[in-house]
Amino acid sequence: MHYESFALERWMTRWELDVTHDICESGIKPLSIEDLFELLPEAVVGDLEKAIHTTPLGYSEARGTLALRKALADTYADTTPDNILVTTGAIEANFLLFSALVETGDHVVVVDPAYQQLQSIPRSLGAEVDLLTVVHGDGNYYDLAELRELVRPTTKLIVINTPHNPTGAMLSDEELNEIVDIARANDCWILSDEAYRWIEFPGGAKIPAPMRGRYEKGISVGTVSKPFGVPGLRIGWFAAPEEIVQAAWGIRDYVSLSPAKLSDIIATVVIRYREAIFARNAAIIEANLETATTWFRDHAELASWTPPRAGLLAMMRYRADIDSTTLADRLAGEAGVMLAPGDAFGMPGTLRIGIGQDPQIFREGLEKTAEFLRTL
Ligand SMILES: Cc1ncc(COP(=O)(O)O)c(C=O)c1O
Repeated sequence: MHYESFALERWMTRWELDVTHDICESGIKPLSIEDLFELLPEAVVGDLEKAIHTTPLGYSEARGTLALRKALADTYADTTPDNILVTTGAIEANFLLFSALVETGDHVVVVDPAYQQLQSIPRSLGAEVDLLTVVHGDGNYYDLAELRELVRPTTKLIVINTPHNPTGAMLSDEELNEIVDIARANDCWILSDEAYRWIEFPGGAKIPAPMRGRYEKGISVGTVSKPFGVPGLRIGWFAAPEEIVQAAWGIRDYVSLSPAKLSDIIATVVIRYREAIFARNAAIIEANLETATTWFRDHAELASWTPPRAGLLAMMRYRADIDSTTLADRLAGEAGVMLAPGDAFGMPGTLRIGIGQDPQIFREGLEKTAEFLRTL
């Protein structure tokens, strides 16, 4: 099997340890255990601390602990712990789902641009992949008339991602239902990558209910990485019909066997007490959104953007005559600022910006970006 190189991951790992101002990260500013303890009720901190110290570090339950699967199942309609598989990040959830669902010659429709895995893995599995673009001259949105044309009776799977990486576009409740109608008419699966679920902010849109619970062949993928600032736990999951959980679990036996035990315990608490973390997220995103709005207004001669509707990602369209990979490399190497190249998403002339990181770093990073762009 041939795997295309994961352009964004390669670029990020090239620079992430060398820069001072990383303003393209796709998650909220990471929490330390100490930060987390400050956000949790005292009694919960006591219990969690004890669990971290006393739990024997054996292998964990293969599907994820019942406690975590229950906490997750409760966040979806019509879902029990048997409908949940806890995975090593959403990246493993997606990988297992594609491996379970897609065979050589299958037809798959995937959103574009995309977190590259969503397109590359079905292609690696030998699928015929058609792309549904969300980037149009008049804005970022999912053209469902185009989706209707792309999907056919032999289509096996529709892959969506909402809120969207990298544009910050989002499907509405009605649009999600329309996608379900299209899928149902063609009896195909929907994989909805909801890695940015729960990332809402004042003035932004409300994120509609997940795909799971809308459609018998609808699958929702989630993660603690983006909304909770704990990507280092490497905990993701999917919610799906039980036969899909069983099929993916069978593949997972060969890959990672079970989630990391301590991560599972911490993730359970994070999911249960998520409201405390949301307030922190909203404050960070609100501050950065204000900084970015002012910056784009004051530097209209250098760059423009469409702010995210939810989530925390957007594309900056710059005006300099330079390709995005060279620009991103030079910004990182010469100015210490990390803005991911749009080339990694097939979007030349753009850089991906993330508004979830430390507000001071974000402000300084944008100032340095303006200084650098002026030299070009
Ligand atoms: C859309 C999308 N899906 C999945 C992932 C994987 O996230 P993780 O494996 O950290 O849960 C990412 C990470 O950037 C993403 O943007």
